[in-house]
Amino acid sequence: MEHKTINEGNVTIEVPYFHKVSAKAPVFYNPVMELNRDLSVAAIQVFQMDREEDITICDAFGGTGIRGIRYASEIGGVGHVVITDLNPLAVQFTEDNVHKNNLNNIDVYREDANLLLRKCRGKFDVVDVDPFGTPSPYIESSAFNLRSGGMLCVTATDTSALCGTYKEPCIRKYGAVSLKTEYCHETGLRILVGFISRTFAKYKKYVDLKFSHSTEHYLRLYLTIGKGAKKTDESLNNLGYIAHCNNCLYRMAVPGLAPSIPGICPVCKGNFRVGGPLWLGKLLEPDFIENMINIMPDLNLKMENEALKLLERCYEESNAPITFFDLHVVSKNLKISSPPLHNVLEKLKANGFFASRTHFKPTGIKTNAPVDALKKIVLSLK
Ligand SMILES: C[S@@+](CC[C@H](N)C(=O)[O-])C[C@H]1O[C@@H](n2cnc3c(N)ncnc32)[C@H](O)[C@@H]1O
Ligand SMILES: [Zn+2]
Repeated sequence: MEHKTINEGNVTIEVPYFHKVSAKAPVFYNPVMELNRDLSVAAIQVFQMDREEDITICDAFGGTGIRGIRYASEIGGVGHVVITDLNPLAVQFTEDNVHKNNLNNIDVYREDANLLLRKCRGKFDVVDVDPFGTPSPYIESSAFNLRSGGMLCVTATDTSALCGTYKEPCIRKYGAVSLKTEYCHETGLRILVGFISRTFAKYKKYVDLKFSHSTEHYLRLYLTIGKGAKKTDESLNNLGYIAHCNNCLYRMAVPGLAPSIPGICPVCKGNFRVGGPLWLGKLLEPDFIENMINIMPDLNLKMENEALKLLERCYEESNAPITFFDLHVVSKNLKISSPPLHNVLEKLKANGFFASRTHFKPTGIKTNAPVDALKKIVLSLK
């Protein structure tokens, strides 16, 4: 079989030759995910720095093994890495790639991720779930596996379900109604966190979001795990719904799992559309992101500039209110052409409102200004 040699991070791996990235490739490798892997190295390193002992990581969807191999090679304080994949050829490539990089702290298995996580309860400090499409079938076994103090890293590439292009798959996979809006990537992330928190709650475990982002075709999140019935109950108070008015762009968060949700927008009397249940709590922790930014120069990552740009934007929006406005959508609603984003942000701040950009969208505005106040400001700048 013809091979390709890939240099990523400080490792070199072989992958079967491919023309285009596809889940049908003999062994899956996607170069676009290098940024995802670079950020994972930084996030797990920050998580590890808080620990007194070496950590054990499970890369539950190995592919070529690149992720687990990079974790073993690039993150300090990693004692042991376990990589598993169902595809026998992926396992063979992973074993060869581990050998090629002279690593002796990695075990490679051909085992279903769910079975491995069930069998190895409490053995991993970090579980990385990076499947094709939805992570939903693997969250329950992650919840069973992870101890208090552990970390779960999750990728979801089924953004069409989470972000509202197709309604039914989101209901099937996440037990939630998606909401197609200009901020649908944020609600997609919140639906995923809501689903994860409800699944962990069965085990009296709760999740604490450290870092999450929406990039290219995927959503990625990093959460630490806590245990205890009382704290889990408190954490579930972060669940709720978002009601959105397409007519005037007013939106509201409605906390609770069975709240009374108004059907009519209080601003324009238009009809509300409702999405959820979803996570209304924080998606980003500024201290964690700051630590990632600070260690970035030591990691020698090829995508350092892109990673820093994303982290700085996430830091900026880490204390912002939920949802955001899209300047183009607001301007279209007002039937004017958009004024410069920078001017809108400055004027919002001058009027005493919180205002920041968001990594979710280049034209996005995170603000606590009510929609009417924002519209007034946009109109004044046209
Ligand atoms: C998106 S790829 C993983 C990519 C890899 N983590 C990376 O960063 O390059 C998903 C992998 O999961 C494997 N897979 C699919 N279902 C699985 C399961 N139930 N248990 C373990 N591996 C599985 C596939 O064979 C494929 O190699
Ligand atoms: Zn309205």
